[in-house]
Amino acid sequence: MRSQTGSQLPSAQSRSGDGIDLVNVVKRFGETVAVSGADLSLPRHGRMSIIGPSGCGKSTILSMISGLLDPTEGVVRVEGATTMKERLARCAWMPQRDLLLPWRDVAGNAALALENHGISKKEARGRVLELIDRFGLSGFERKFPHQLSGGMRQRVSFLRTMAAGKDVLLFDEPFGALDSITRADLQQWLRRTLEETPRTTVLVTHDVEEALLLGDTVVVMSARPGRIVQTVDVELPQTENRRELIRHPAFAELRDELLSLLEVAE
Ligand SMILES: Nc1ncnc2c1ncn2[C@@H]1O[C@H](COP(=O)(O)OP(=O)(O)O)[C@@H](O)[C@H]1O
Ligand SMILES: [Mg+2]
Repeated sequence: MRSQTGSQLPSAQSRSGDGIDLVNVVKRFGETVAVSGADLSLPRHGRMSIIGPSGCGKSTILSMISGLLDPTEGVVRVEGATTMKERLARCAWMPQRDLLLPWRDVAGNAALALENHGISKKEARGRVLELIDRFGLSGFERKFPHQLSGGMRQRVSFLRTMAAGKDVLLFDEPFGALDSITRADLQQWLRRTLEETPRTTVLVTHDVEEALLLGDTVVVMSARPGRIVQTVDVELPQTENRRELIRHPAFAELRDELLSLLEVAE
């Protein structure tokens, strides 16, 4: 992993303790082996993408990290925490659907996560309004969900997730329901946002380009039983521009490598 090689970083031991670790993780649902023997290590503020065919255990891995599920065997550690309750406290889950409340305006919806942490409505709204510009929502503070495009609703949902102030962000196919132009726009925007406000991020996606754009490592999984086939480091030129990056030969090479791994994984 690129971010693990910096010489000024603390020792490998403490680094991995601050991020996410899965050690020999098995998850069974009755007879079904959803995840068999997964080992993963993501340093703090590292970004991991997980790709693989439907049913290979991607969502199950996210649920175990988030603290919604415990592994049948092995250990899941998030910033040193191993209990479900402690993991839940450290992770923010970005839902696939925006789940906005139709009777609350943009600022009111974005403030929800803060209110759930016991912050007053007024203060939560104030804090959210400070962030609204960075999320491309200025001028829309008082609009209601039905007055927004799908992309904007998803930005409000991101704002709510980011405002919660958790250090770990989990995304399960966050752009799945959006058209390709909105999707490209949000990918570029999220890339920039995570550069500016680094978080430990795990993104599950079907889309190889999205995995490369948003991850500094890509984990490829195969189905039946769900297991990790390979972890690929993403070394790409530093550029803000999504289109430039996608056209770069290094990008094309990584995309081909991932596509061949997926072909075998099916
Ligand atoms: N709560 C559950 N109960 C029983 N089986 C489950 C449950 N959740 C997932 N599975 C099974 O585990 C396997 C992995 O599922 P999932 O993690 O959702 O895959 P993916 O997200 O990669 O499509 C599938 O065979 C699925 O049917
Ligand atoms: Mg899934």
